[in-house]
Amino acid sequence: MYTRIQETARFLKEKIHAKPDTAIILGSGLGRLTEEIDIEQEIAYADIPHFPLSTVEGHSGKLIFGKLGGKDIMAMQGRFHYYEGYDMKEVTFPVRVMHELGIRNLFVSNAAGGMNPSFSIGDLMVITDHINMMPENPLRGKNIPTGPRFPSMHEAYDKEFIRTVDDIAATHGITLRHGVYIATQGPTFETPAEYRMFHLLGADAVGMSTVPEVIVAIHQGMRVFGISIITDLGGFGEVVEVSHEEVTAAADAAQPKMTLLMRELIQRI
Ligand code: HPA
Repeated sequence: MYTRIQETARFLKEKIHAKPDTAIILGSGLGRLTEEIDIEQEIAYADIPHFPLSTVEGHSGKLIFGKLGGKDIMAMQGRFHYYEGYDMKEVTFPVRVMHELGIRNLFVSNAAGGMNPSFSIGDLMVITDHINMMPENPLRGKNIPTGPRFPSMHEAYDKEFIRTVDDIAATHGITLRHGVYIATQGPTFETPAEYRMFHLLGADAVGMSTVPEVIVAIHQGMRVFGISIITDLGGFGEVVEVSHEEVTAAADAAQPKMTLLMRELIQRI
């Protein structure tokens, strides 16, 4: 595993001109942030040795290198989901490669269902903590020596990043929610009973991604910032049916605010 990670990193190091400190993973329907990047290089996942290929509609599957907020960044347009059939090592492979490239900050975004009654569709929720309900932990198996066998998760989401983003949001009059993200394997959306259960467990939003990548990032000593776009609601009031199209439309509408927050966060770190 580690050999493959190193081979991929070596391939990318030979190709790329920049040396970014920060990587961004763009979630479902959240690819428009790339329009704000002064793109220097794009590399399709299909052209990267050992990289899995993304299969979901709305993900075009490439690494982007360029400048955002005047700083070098790497963006992943399209991520790998467990529900697509990848194992956890594949889902988190790019985050392992990021570490080898010297990346120290990871920003993650996703579309999520909200179950906090004070949330509305289109809200942005800063992830303050998570609950891992996926069937496997990405660190299962032989420990890769970028971190300890039993890594602490007491502050997976960097408090200073959260304070900075709160400050940026206040400056621009953007309302932000804070909350706990719970990760399921998907691909089913939740039943009303599952939504209620997740809320009872202490979660505010549910989605099918992010947590594996964050666990691996923390294992590698990276600082993490995570944000969910609330694309549908469940678990309280009227039960509404969710579709992939609605999720994509709500994510699309919230993209400009998310882009602004990420751009200014990069500027300030
Ligand atoms: N559940 C899980 N994943 C999601 C949802 C949801 O309601 N909305 C967007 N992604």
